[in-house]
Amino acid sequence: MKKNRISKNWLIKKHKDQFFKQSKIQGYRSRSAFKLMEMDQKFKFLYKNTNLLDLGSVPGGWSQVAAKKITKGKILAVDVKPMKKIENVDFLKGDLFDNEILEKIYTYFGKKIDVVVSDMAANTSGNKSLDSYRTGELCLKGMNLAYKILHKNGSFLSKVFMGSIFVEINKKANESFKNVIKYKPLSSRKESKEIYIYCSGIKVL
Ligand SMILES: C[S@@+](CC[C@H](N)C(=O)[O-])C[C@H]1O[C@@H](n2cnc3c(N)ncnc32)[C@H](O)[C@@H]1O
Repeated sequence: MKKNRISKNWLIKKHKDQFFKQSKIQGYRSRSAFKLMEMDQKFKFLYKNTNLLDLGSVPGGWSQVAAKKITKGKILAVDVKPMKKIENVDFLKGDLFDNEILEKIYTYFGKKIDVVVSDMAANTSGNKSLDSYRTGELCLKGMNLAYKILHKNGSFLSKVFMGSIFVEINKKANESFKNVIKYKPLSSRKESKEIYIYCSGIKVL
């Protein structure tokens, strides 16, 4: 029993370290960068002209991946924490639940955009159900904004933790978007309840 636990922990650590090492070698600020690369390869939403909003951007791995592909579009990153400068990425510090921040986001783009990505996660409290619920609320907030700011062929990609709020997220996604796909990137730890929801094509209600 003890031996099994040790080997499971060793495998988890090894898996974690592989992506951690790669992120350091390739100069990415987070392991999460690999999740966005993998999901872009699968769903193909990053192009040179893309206008993209990155919600919950700190430390900046997803923005770095976006900035490598988006050379002519605008990238706005938003987080409650400060973020070190990334070339070709503008940053707005603030809480997505603050209406002033929402207004600043609309003003920054001044038009409908192509992609909203959200890797927002609530601070961990030690209570996994509560954490997954709070992260689910962040996903719903991001989806609400995406529905308003995306053009009709736009895409929304968001982190979700499987838990009680997932039913509501799935329902809202299917009401708002034509295509809804749930996906677990290889670089996301197997033992984690984290998955991503990729939605595209606005449904006009
Ligand atoms: C997992 S990290 C994002 C990692 C990032 N995608 C990367 O690749 O570097 C989640 C982020 O969500 C942010 N966040 C949580 N609640 C937020 C809120 N209400 N408004 C804006 N950002 C929020 C946190 O501050 C945190 O930096």
